Amino acid sequence: MAEKKDETTKREAIKKMERRSLRIAVLTGGGDAQGLNAAIEGIVYRAEYGGHRVFGFIDGWKGLLLEEFRELRKEVVRNSYSQGGTIIGTSRTNPVKDEETKQKAIKNFKELAFDAIIAIGGEDTLGAAAKLYEAGIPAVGIPKTIDHDVLETEYTIGFQTAVSIVADAIEKLGTTAKSHRRIIVVEVMGRHSGWIALYGGLAGGADYILIPEVKPDINDVVRVIKEKYGRGEQFAVIAVAEGVKLPNEEEKKVNIVDEYGHEKVGGIAEKLAKILENQTGYPAKHVVLGYLQRGGSPVAIDRTTPMLLGVKAVELVENGDFGKMVAMKGSRVVVVDLKKVSAGIKPVPRDLYEFARLFFD
Ligand code: F6P
Repeated sequence: MAEKKDETTKREAIKKMERRSLRIAVLTGGGDAQGLNAAIEGIVYRAEYGGHRVFGFIDGWKGLLLEEFRELRKEVVRNSYSQGGTIIGTSRTNPVKDEETKQKAIKNFKELAFDAIIAIGGEDTLGAAAKLYEAGIPAVGIPKTIDHDVLETEYTIGFQTAVSIVADAIEKLGTTAKSHRRIIVVEVMGRHSGWIALYGGLAGGADYILIPEVKPDINDVVRVIKEKYGRGEQFAVIAVAEGVKLPNEEEKKVNIVDEYGHEKVGGIAEKLAKILENQTGYPAKHVVLGYLQRGGSPVAIDRTTPMLLGVKAVELVENGDFGKMVAMKGSRVVVVDLKKVSAGIKPVPRDLYEFARLFFD
């Protein structure tokens, strides 16, 4: 028996030696999120197990364009899984914003002699990875965004931590709203999707939740508030996603866009608070949670799942399985086409909103 075990160990050792040591690049792009460092730690640990080296591009795709990167070894990333933010920085740089930039990205990648790139990001970062893959760069994606709106996955790094922050904030705002018999409108992130508002609002006990996917019915919000005050509970907390547009604002285009063409959203809470105060007669205040939703340490699931996805991404690289994104379907890690991911964003389904509406009354 002992002899057989030795044989297997020897075979494993030879296989590992035969497998070339790869130079794997990793980057974090777009808005930061809690759990990015856990994904990086998973990548580095699995890479070193396979005899490979990992290099982190500084500040996302900008690092590739400026050829700025640093080697990531176990001793550098050890225990960073529980730290918020990203140890290699991020940006909203778009490496395929025009042909010249795209060619520079490809040229730099080849000159730096990397064997693969693991891009950790949302639909913008992963969309760029898909385009560079089509141009010949061996790329693998990991889904990250507090917005939770990446297609083809039921999990994105940072979402659950953002939901916990929003739920806690709504609960806290409820006690002060109650003391002053006020309405407090809370604006949460999510850009053009309402996942954070829906789950954070539900978990925090918001009295009403407005999301961009559903046209806001202000009269119904007023009705719910008046009925609540009428029951003697003279306060209300309203959760509104930053991408919600008031009925008269549908067509208004904001001209501030980022390198991926995204308009800056936000400002709805202040407007909605004024409307609700006028229509209910009760005092109303507004709070914009902003970057609090992207700060601090990740909750448990945003530590463990990113590590798992990081390990899986390195295995795809080892197997030469490029143009793919590692994802979660239920509790299972799956592999999906990167190209499909950049086809758009995943909206909150109507039936899920209708489920949440049950709890507004
Ligand atoms: O995509 C994540 C996100 O936090 C959005 O919810 C938000 O609208 C956007 O990033 C803010 O972008 P920035 O960090 O560039 O201000």
